[in-house]
Amino acid sequence: MKILAIDTSCDETAVAVTDGRRVLSNIIYSQILIHKKWGGVVPSLAKRAHEDRIDFVVGDALKKAANFDAVAVTQGPGLAVALEVGIKKAKELAQKYGKKLIAVNHLEGHVYSCFVQNSQGNPPIEFRFPYLALIVSGGHTELVIFKNHLQYEVIGQTVDDAAGEALDKAGKLLGLGYPAGPVIERLAKEAENKDFYHFPRPMLRSNNLNFSFSGLKTSFYYFLQRHPEEQKKIKELASSFQEAVFDTLIAKTEKAINQTGITNLLVGGGVIANQYLRTKFRQLAKKHQGSVLFPSYKHLTGDNAAMIGVVAYYKAQKGQFVFDIVGLDRVPRLGL
Ligand code: KG4
Ligand code: ZN
Repeated sequence: MKILAIDTSCDETAVAVTDGRRVLSNIIYSQILIHKKWGGVVPSLAKRAHEDRIDFVVGDALKKAANFDAVAVTQGPGLAVALEVGIKKAKELAQKYGKKLIAVNHLEGHVYSCFVQNSQGNPPIEFRFPYLALIVSGGHTELVIFKNHLQYEVIGQTVDDAAGEALDKAGKLLGLGYPAGPVIERLAKEAENKDFYHFPRPMLRSNNLNFSFSGLKTSFYYFLQRHPEEQKKIKELASSFQEAVFDTLIAKTEKAINQTGITNLLVGGGVIANQYLRTKFRQLAKKHQGSVLFPSYKHLTGDNAAMIGVVAYYKAQKGQFVFDIVGLDRVPRLGL
C-alpha cells in the first residue's frame, strides 16, 4: 500500500511516499535559513514558507513514486498555523484523487522512525515488543512504553523545556547560532575534560520519570554572567552543558528500565543525530543486556514525512481512516 505522507508540524516542509515500512521518496525542505536570524522558529514565517513550498515538495516526492493509494498527514502536536498547511493540502489531494486519508500523531512518527527502511527493505529489523521509547527533539522529551503497534503509555515527559530546546538556548547564550545541537556536539568532541564545570543534573533525585531543563539553563546563564572570563573556554562550556543534558536523559531512561523491566530501547528525534549520545545509549543497553535502535538514516532523526507514512500504514491495517475529511482539524497539543 503506497502512502503519500505530509508533515508540516514545525519548520520543515516534508513529503514522502512510503510502501509499508519502505521509503520510496522522502523530500524535506528545511526552513532553517529563514528562522536562523531570529534564533528560533517564527510561526508566521513558518506558515508562509510551508504555503510557498508545499506544492513543489509534493511534486518532487511524486517524481520518484508517481502513484499512491492513500494520503497521510500529521495532525499534531506542532505549531497550529504550520499544521494547517499540511492538513489543507492532504485533504485537497485525498479529495482530488478519491483516496482515503489517515491522520497521524507526530510523536508516533518519531517512535516508528527507528523502523523505517530504505526502498530495498533495509535494515531488516523486526518488531520485538515491548519497547521503552525516548523521543528527544527540539519540541519534545518523552519516555514511552511502546506496547504494541499504535499502543503507548507515556511514563515521563519534560515539565518545561525539551532537551533539544535546552541545547539550543545554551548555544544561543554562547553565540553558536540556531540550531545549536550539532555545533555543541562538534565543540564537545574537542573538549579535553568533557565535564569541566559539572553543571547541575536536573530532576535526578526526584522519584518520577519526568524531565526539567529550565533550571539547568538558568544556572548556565548565571554562571556566564558571573564568570565572563570563562567564555573563552567554549569547548568546555559546550561539553559540560551537553553532558548535564545527556546524563539526565540516560539516568531517567535507566530509572525507567529498572521500573518497567523493559530493556529494548528506541530513541528517536533530532537530538539522537548526536553520535556521542548514541554511544551512551548503546552502553546503557549493554549494561542491562538489552538492545537499542535509532533511526537508521540521519534524515530520519529530525522531522520528516517518511516516519508519518510508516505509522499511517499500521493505522490503515487497523482501518483507522479519517471518515469526515472536511472536519479534520489540527490538534497542536496532541499527546500520545
Ligand atoms: O526533531 P527535530 O528536527 O525537530 C523537532 O521536532 O523539534 O529536532 C531538532 C532539535 C534541535 O533542538 C537541534 O538542536 C537538535 O535537534 N539536534 C541535535 C543534533 N542535531 C540536531 N542535538 C544534538 N546533537 C546533534 N547532532
Ligand atoms: Zn519532531
